[in-house]
Amino acid sequence: MPLSLLKPFAPSIRFTLSIRRTLHALIATGLLAPCLVRAAQPRLTIGFSQVGAESAWRTAETESIKSEGAKRGVTLKFSDAQGRQENQIKALRSFIAQKVDAIILAPVVETGWEPVLRDAKRAKIPVVLVDRGVKVSDESLFATLIASDFIAEGRMAAEWLAKKAGGKARIVELQGTPGAAPAIDRKKGFEAGLASEPGMRIIASQSGDFRRANGKEVMEALIKKHGSEITAVYAHNDDMAIGAIQAIEESGRKPGSDVIVLSIDGVRGAFEAMVAGKLNCTVECNPLLGPLAFDAAEKAVSGAALPKKTIVPDRVFDQSTAKSVIASRQY
Ligand code: AHR
Repeated sequence: MPLSLLKPFAPSIRFTLSIRRTLHALIATGLLAPCLVRAAQPRLTIGFSQVGAESAWRTAETESIKSEGAKRGVTLKFSDAQGRQENQIKALRSFIAQKVDAIILAPVVETGWEPVLRDAKRAKIPVVLVDRGVKVSDESLFATLIASDFIAEGRMAAEWLAKKAGGKARIVELQGTPGAAPAIDRKKGFEAGLASEPGMRIIASQSGDFRRANGKEVMEALIKKHGSEITAVYAHNDDMAIGAIQAIEESGRKPGSDVIVLSIDGVRGAFEAMVAGKLNCTVECNPLLGPLAFDAAEKAVSGAALPKKTIVPDRVFDQSTAKSVIASRQY
C-alpha cells in the first residue's frame, strides 16, 4: 500500500481501534511494511497516573516514562497523585472522560481499584499497570502488569544480611507505604528469607512511607527505644535507609560498621552511600519502565494479546562492587 494512502490520518487525529487492527492485519499478511505504518501512525494519547515523587526511584520512573513517551511522539497526560489514591482515581476518571487511547497506572496501594478499572474497561481503554500490582477479583480489568518481583527482592535482602551478620542480628525494619505492594511483599519476602535463621530477629518494624525524612524520624524514635541493641537496619527503599543513616550517625554510632544497613532500589544515592562505607547493600529494583510500558500500551491499543505479568529482573549490589559500577548506573 503506498504511503500516500495513509496520509489522510494526520498525526493529531485519534486512531480508531478498527483502523489499527486493519493496519496490523495488513502487516501480518505481508501487504504492508511495519515501518510504513509507524511513519504514518498518528500520536497516541496516553494518560499516566503516577503515585507521587516520594523517592529518587519514583523520580527516575517518571522520567523514564516521560522521555520514552516523547521519543515515541505520544501525547502524554501526566498526573502526580501526591501519594493519594483518591487523586489517582480522579485522574483515571478524567483520562476516561478525555477518551485517551490507553492508561498507564502506578497504583499507590493494592486495593480499591475495581470501580474505576471497570469504568476504563467499559470505555474500552486498556490499563497498563507499572511497578505495583492491584488486587482485583477480575484480572481482565487491566491489560498487563510490568513490575519487579518484590517478594524476591525481600528474600535476596534477607539472604544477603544473614550471610553478612553470620546468622545473628537484631534488625529494625523500615517499611514502605502501608497497603502498597512493595511494602507488603518486601516484608513477606524478607521474613520468608529469615525463616530458617533463628538468630536473625526483627525487633521492630514501622512505616517510613518510602520517604527519606520519615525514615530518619522513625529511626530516631527506634534508636531512643532500642539503642545499641540494634545491629541491622532493613529499609524497604534506599531513601529511608539514607534517612536512617543520618539518624544513626547523629546517635554517635557508625552506619555500615556498628550497624549494618541494607535497602532496596539501587538509586545513585545508595551507591554513593556504599562507596562512603555507610550503606552495606542495596537490592536493585529497576525503575526504567518507560520502554516496556509503551510497548505494552501500543500492543493493547492494537488489540494484540499481552502476558498478564512481565517481571523485571533485579540484582544485589554491595560495598564490594559499588565503586566499580557506580559510573554505569543510569538512575
Ligand atoms: O514501587 C516501587 C517503590 O516505590 C520503590 O522502591 C520506592 O522507592 C518507591 O517509592
